[in-house]
Amino acid sequence: MSTTGALPSPALSAWGMALLAGALGVLWLLIALLRARLEPQEKGLADGVLRTQPSTPHSAEEDDAHEFSVGARVRFHSLLKTPELNERHGVVLRYDRSCGRFVVRREVALAGESLNVTVKAANMRGAPPPASLAEVQAIVETAPRGARVTLPRGEVAAGASAAEAGGGAVLELKSAITLAGMGSRSGGTVLNFGVAVGEDVVGELVELAGLHVVGAVEVSPRDVARVKLTKIAITAPLDAPALILDEISTIVPPDSEASGRVLLDECWVRGGRKGVEINVVGCVLRHCRIQGAANYGIHANANFSIEGCTIGDCGKSGRGGGILTRAECTQLRQINGRNENRIQRDATDTAYSGYIPNCRGCVGQCTCTAMLALANLPVIRWAGQGLGKWQHLLEM
Ligand SMILES: *[C@@H]1O[C@H](CO)[C@@H](O)[C@H](O)[C@H]1NC(C)=O
Ligand SMILES: *[C@@H]1O[C@H](CO)[C@@H](O)[C@H](O)[C@H]1NC(C)=O
Repeated sequence: MSTTGALPSPALSAWGMALLAGALGVLWLLIALLRARLEPQEKGLADGVLRTQPSTPHSAEEDDAHEFSVGARVRFHSLLKTPELNERHGVVLRYDRSCGRFVVRREVALAGESLNVTVKAANMRGAPPPASLAEVQAIVETAPRGARVTLPRGEVAAGASAAEAGGGAVLELKSAITLAGMGSRSGGTVLNFGVAVGEDVVGELVELAGLHVVGAVEVSPRDVARVKLTKIAITAPLDAPALILDEISTIVPPDSEASGRVLLDECWVRGGRKGVEINVVGCVLRHCRIQGAANYGIHANANFSIEGCTIGDCGKSGRGGGILTRAECTQLRQINGRNENRIQRDATDTAYSGYIPNCRGCVGQCTCTAMLALANLPVIRWAGQGLGKWQHLLEM
């Protein structure tokens, strides 16, 4: 028995080795093929320069392709057919070989205007990217309601005047616009100051996209219908909330429109006394990561929904955890009866073992019926006593 038992195993392992070698060979081939296909494009994007085959002799057009890198800021000039673009700025998205022109995003695209324009290299000049908060503030202030502002790649410092103000440097959005960068990861657009959307902002949509904000973000427009944060990274100090969503619109939406009015998509919030403070009805977080808050990753005074989120490594102060809510937290999308969210239970939970709805997240110290925070606001206030929703003062 022992010999027959022992015999097959070397044979098997020889087989196994052969199979493994074969599989590795195939894998290697696949990877090589894939790389050959991806390389020219990826390389071009990675170092920001679009490359052409070295073997072909250089034509004027190919020289053009090398002239501007992806994500760079440019200034248009000498355009005859679209003279209104002259002296305005844009951000290079790619080179379109088929027409020998660059596809450029307008720095400030007004509502209804095309976002992209295609321009020859001869009609553009490289422009220095905004170097300070003051310069970004100036660009943003040229953008009226509904416009989309696109910032080039690179890091923007707070600047000298902001340093004098004591490090509390903040970019203020004063109208309902979209502010976009060239991505929140390394090589994208980094703002070394906070961002605030003030109470007086009025309009349909405020959106932040593709930016890394090193500072706190506060979004509190009273009369904006929707707020969207897409691919925003926030890295904030531990002494204040990293992201505050406060009283967005004082109009209580009908139930049918409540969900998703405030949408956080693929955002990554690091640090903060709290990670995200939610004082608004209808907030949905999709595929977000919230980490490293001093106490809670999410502190919500209104109901909200999460899908595919990781909220952990919080409670840095020794107390706290993933979520503290005073209303419902709906976990969207169940897979095999389990939710995809990974939520830290309390400060000691390193396995992110989950959120416990019937205790409303505040494990061990449940004081969930407390009414909170917005008590003194004039038009709308959070209804305590287990009502779990916003109410007009008139209804109370
Ligand atoms: C602008 O160009 C980029 C890059 O080619 C493309 O991905 C995007 O869809 C274009 N946007 C519009 C609105 O045409
Ligand atoms: C919040 O509650 C309202 C009213 O009950 C509901 O219509 C809405 O879908 C909820 N929103 C979220 C994001 O869960």
